Amino acid sequence: MKNKKIIIGSDHAGFELKEDIKKFLTQLGYDCEDIGVFNKEPADYPKTAFKVAKEVAKTDGKGILMCGSGLGEAIVANKVKGIRAANCFNEYTAINSREHNNSNLLCLGARILKNDEAKKITKIWLSTNFSNEERHKRRVKQIKEIEEKICR
Ligand code: RB5
Repeated sequence: MKNKKIIIGSDHAGFELKEDIKKFLTQLGYDCEDIGVFNKEPADYPKTAFKVAKEVAKTDGKGILMCGSGLGEAIVANKVKGIRAANCFNEYTAINSREHNNSNLLCLGARILKNDEAKKITKIWLSTNFSNEERHKRRVKQIKEIEEKICR
């Protein structure tokens, strides 16, 4: 969907990729809300990941997080109620995380992916819709039910 806001953030390891992805998203017609970081000084990934995840959950929107591996930020983001963060590393995982899991936060590993690969994954992830198939709706609902039990 064009002209939709995407909330983005990174730690130091993901900073350069974030800047590149930001330009790419603008070219694709998206608006970016950049939560930081804004330079390559060492920065602890839980801080930005938590800020981005909270904003995505609050706005019922979509976000993209970038760190070295994409793993730490996904771990943090998935602790926020309403977040389904997916560490995608190829076309298949990008499509699957949207169609099956209705992921709302894409986590990219800047030390693993080349920028062109990250852009390709981003474009596919943003343009793939949740399948809305019954079995996937049921499973995503189960995720929400688990969340209700553990997030007080
Ligand atoms: C930073 O060195 C690195 O640990 C971080 O970017 C990320 O990969 C954590 O999961």
